[in-house]
Amino acid sequence: MKDSETGPKFDRLRRLRATHELRQINAETRLDMRELVYPMFVVNGKKVRNPVPSMPGICQLSVDEAVIEAERLHSLGIWQFLLFGVPTTKDSVGSRAWLSDEAVQRCIADLRVLIPDATVITDVCLCEYTDHGHCGKLTAEGDVDNDATLPLLTAVAISHAEAGAQVVAPSAMMDGQVAAIRSGLDESGYREVEILGYSAKYASAFYGPFRDAAQSAPQFGDRRSYQMAPTQREEAMLEIYADIDEGADKIMVKPALAYLDVISAAKSRFPAQPLYAYNVSGEYAMLHAAAANGWIDLRLSALETLTGIKRAGADFIITYFAEQAANWLRK
Ligand code: PBG
Repeated sequence: MKDSETGPKFDRLRRLRATHELRQINAETRLDMRELVYPMFVVNGKKVRNPVPSMPGICQLSVDEAVIEAERLHSLGIWQFLLFGVPTTKDSVGSRAWLSDEAVQRCIADLRVLIPDATVITDVCLCEYTDHGHCGKLTAEGDVDNDATLPLLTAVAISHAEAGAQVVAPSAMMDGQVAAIRSGLDESGYREVEILGYSAKYASAFYGPFRDAAQSAPQFGDRRSYQMAPTQREEAMLEIYADIDEGADKIMVKPALAYLDVISAAKSRFPAQPLYAYNVSGEYAMLHAAAANGWIDLRLSALETLTGIKRAGADFIITYFAEQAANWLRK
């Protein structure tokens, strides 16, 4: 009797992974730099590059520097940029957020001229612009006032559209924000501008380094009355459904790593909507910190992370690793 007739049925699995070439050919999941989105923090001034200590390689950039950085990434094959504005002065309602001469609005306009085939996505929120660091206007009691915040977010989105943003991404987690922004954009003549909802955004400890970069840490309390609790998966489906119902063209799950099941559920329940996953600042900082100690390999762990997020169901990944990943993937 021949071996093949007696041997175990599943003795052939290793054949598919025997060599580097076979592993490439048989890969079920592939990373593509066109699916990566690079976030940038834009500040006022000129020739400014302020390194963010908790995010190695990431700087707050003035518009002139941000444009140079975006052009470099674009030449590596990165097509999508997510812009955050960090103002010089703040007030109780974040009124610099919708001014046409603020850094983010000027950066949008310059990027559209210099890299016309790139997609400029903007974060629409107030926490970077308010002196209290919350994502909306406060009531006299110090709660975030949902409905009073909607017109402010709408004004921010319209100012971004006016500057040339193709996609606006409301991240304040106010109920009804997508509907309010959609009708504001439509009434102002920006029907073609897309909305990427930060639909399932969790109140996460992994945003810590971002809040250094964006100078947006809440000055009192936390964001748990508007961002979701980590215990919730079905509620995330409801949030996503609500965003789609209100007119979101694209949806997001954020953070990514502790929420891979939510990414997977979102893709299977809402397969038609492009799904973004945000590989957030704390996830980036963790790998860098461990790698700096020599405890893990940065390239391998970052590529494994991005592959895992993609395999879970994300169509696009917002990641501070975008530039490095593009370089690694080209090799
Ligand atoms: C603004 C916003 C935050 C992030 C993206 N948009 C911070 C927050 O909600 O506190 C976090 C991104 C990251 O950690 O990389 N609301």
